Order: sequence, then structure tokens, then C-alpha cells
Amino acid sequence: MSMTQPILVTGGAGYIGSHTCVALIEAGYAPLVLDNLCNSSVESLARVQRITGVRPGWIEGDIRDAALLEQVLAEHRPRAVIHFAGLKAVGESVQEPLAYYDNNVGGTTILLQAMQRAGLRNIIFSSSATVYGDPATVPIREDFPRSATNPYGRSKLIIEDILDDLQRADPAWRIARLRYFNPVGAHPSGLIGEDPRGIPNNLMPYITQVAVGRLPALQVFGGDWPTPDGTGVRDYIHVMDLAEGHVAALAYLLEAGAGMFTVNLGTGQGVSVLQMVQAFERTSGHQVPYRVVERRAGDIAACWADPARARRLLHWQARRDLDTICADAWRWQQANPRGYA
Ligand code: NAD
Ligand code: WQD
Repeated sequence: MSMTQPILVTGGAGYIGSHTCVALIEAGYAPLVLDNLCNSSVESLARVQRITGVRPGWIEGDIRDAALLEQVLAEHRPRAVIHFAGLKAVGESVQEPLAYYDNNVGGTTILLQAMQRAGLRNIIFSSSATVYGDPATVPIREDFPRSATNPYGRSKLIIEDILDDLQRADPAWRIARLRYFNPVGAHPSGLIGEDPRGIPNNLMPYITQVAVGRLPALQVFGGDWPTPDGTGVRDYIHVMDLAEGHVAALAYLLEAGAGMFTVNLGTGQGVSVLQMVQAFERTSGHQVPYRVVERRAGDIAACWADPARARRLLHWQARRDLDTICADAWRWQQANPRGYA
């Protein structure tokens, strides 16, 4: 076992987790990944090693396995947990709510219980801008009201509240609730990136799969939104900026006094679907054929972050622009047209 106490990264083989492993290693931390591979491939960790020269610690397992967690925490004595593990497909959560409550809420509860028993009380949780529901105004500040429109979003709301209750009950807990806006892009090496199973739900992987010829055309969900060009506006954040946000949050968590903090991780910039298509065509040199169709159920017009609190508290801000996002997403897609398979 290494002399350095690792950072336990649940869901660390996944999209955001693998990029965060790179950022952790580059900052001198030792990630220890626990993942059941239900939505990822362990090849991502071999790629992390190719990028950094360091292979993250690896345990294949489920966060709902209390006995496994007890053993892992006792053996490795992590300094903190970065908790990415969970299910994240909004549409699927409407069809299979119990799977979402079991994995996300149940899994987190079991993880927190194991941490409590092991005397480990430092955790960074992956929350989401989805907890803001349909915001009354943009940009969105952390003190805006929260709501949920689907079981996935409700699972995030419930976990946020559980963490709040826990920290109140035992103020020794140090808890970061990070609300991600729309994570996109890939590591600039093209070695790791987003590898969705089946047809992508999200805009960016859909665009790159159209450009690479895996899908015929993009469907733009609605051209009549109350936005400048009529298409939906979001805050797309480069996944490496997001990863570095976790490192900043970890440093703050371990250095500052005990407590809980909640921060938006976004760029503060709104980008429409058509602006994204144009940026992608410009940087990739490939056409993205599209047609405007009906709005998608549950979508909102516009959502972007006020990122001021993260800047003030964590001394972190997103620095990669839209062209970098598109160029990096395209490099990953071209080098790995079938993902990790
Ligand atoms: P991902 O699916 O690529 O990563 C999640 C990882 O968790 C996967 O590797 C999966 O195999 C693993 N996992 C799931 N259930 C598990 C369990 N019970 N035990 C062990 N491992 C398990 O997704 P991602 O995009 O990297 O998202 C990471 C986290 O960030 C999730 O909690 C997600 O809800 C949250 N988030 C994601 C987005 C986004 O758009 N990608 C936005 C906001 C928040
Ligand atoms: C972005 C924009 C679509 C696909 C989702 C979750 C959210 C969070 C991030 C986890 C919207 C439009 C999309 C397509 C399109 N995940 N679009 N054609 O919906 O902002 O957020 O992922 O927490 O909870 O809801 O992201 O990438 O699906 O959509 O026109 O084929 O692109 O309508 O305006 P979204 P997205």
C-alpha cells in the first residue's frame, strides 16, 4: 500500500470521474476508484495511466455493497471521497424510478454509513443544475429555489437534503455539494472522453456521432423557445475545467474548517443549440446536418450559472472556451469512433 492516503473516487471509471482522476494525479493526489462498470469501461483507467504515467487504484464493486465499503475504507484509509457513482439518464429515470432511488439515494446512504463507521467524514458530492428546475431568471445563483421534474433530479435533491441533515447532526462532516451545469468535451490527448451506451441523450455526443457518420442527423428539440435564436440555451463546461473544480473543492474541503458548502460549477456563459452546432462545424471542419423538431418533454428554455461563488470560495473558474470544447470532443470521437469498445 502506498504511503499517501488515497482519495476514494466512486464512479471513477465514468466520464467525469476518469477526467477527475487525471486532474487529481496531476495535483499530486492518489485516486482509488470504486466502480461497478454499469455505465463505463475499465479501459478508461488504462488511458488515465497513459496520460499521467500513474494507474489509479482500482476496485470493481458497488457502492451498495456495505461489506465491501467497510473493507475498502479500513484497508486504504482514504482522506476523502469524491462521489460520482450513480445513474444519470433523465428519461430512463422516468421509466425506472426505483432503480434511480436505489442506486443514487440508497447507494449514497450506504456509502455515508460506511464512512461514518470508519470515521471518514470528508465528501464531495456530484449534484446537478437540474436541482434548479425551471429557473425564474438566469444566471442561476446557489440560493435559488430548488425543484425536481423527474426522478433523477429528485434523487439529487434528496441526496442534497440528506447531506444537509447529516452535517447538522454531526458538524465534523465536511461536505461539498457541487452543482454541475452541462459537462462536455474531453481530455486534449483524445485518450479519454464521454462514451455513452446506445444512442446519446445529450447534445454534444449526439453532434460528434453525427459528424463521425454514426448517426444521420441531429434533431434540434424546438426552434420556438424564448431565446435569441429560438433554440435551448445551456452552460457547457469543459470536463477538464470541471475536473479541476473538484481538485479545488478538495483542497478547500481539506484545508478550511469543517462544514458544508454548495457551489455551481459552470462557465457563466449561455450557448444555444445552433451556436453549438456552428462552433462544432467551425472547429471540426465537418458538417452537422440537422432539422428542427418538436420540443423534448421536460426541457427548459435557458439555464446558465452565476459562477461567482466558486471563484470566491475555491479560486477556481472555467478557462477553456467553446472552440476548445469542440476541438477536444472531436479529437476523442475521431480517435475512438466506437468509444472504448
Ligand atoms: P457516468 O455514467 O459516466 O459515471 C458514473 C459512474 O458510476 C459509471 O462509471 C458507473 O459505472 C458508476 N456507477 C453507477 N452506479 C454505481 C454503483 N451503484 N456502484 C458503483 N459504481 C456505480 O456519468 P458522469 O457523467 O461521469 O456523471 C458522474 C456524476 O455526475 C453522476 O452522479 C451524475 O449524476 C453527475 N452529473 C452528471 C452530469 C452530466 O451531464 N454528465 C451533470 C450533472 C451531474
Ligand atoms: C442540451 C440542449 C436540448 C439533444 C441534461 C440533464 C441534466 C444534466 C445534464 C445530469 C437542450 C438540446 C439535446 C439532442 C437537442 N445531467 N438537444 N437535440 O437537457 O440541458 O441536461 O444533461 O445532471 O440533468 O437533463 O442536456 O445535452 O440533453 O441538452 O436539440 O439530440 O440541447 O433540447 O436545449 P440538458 P442535453
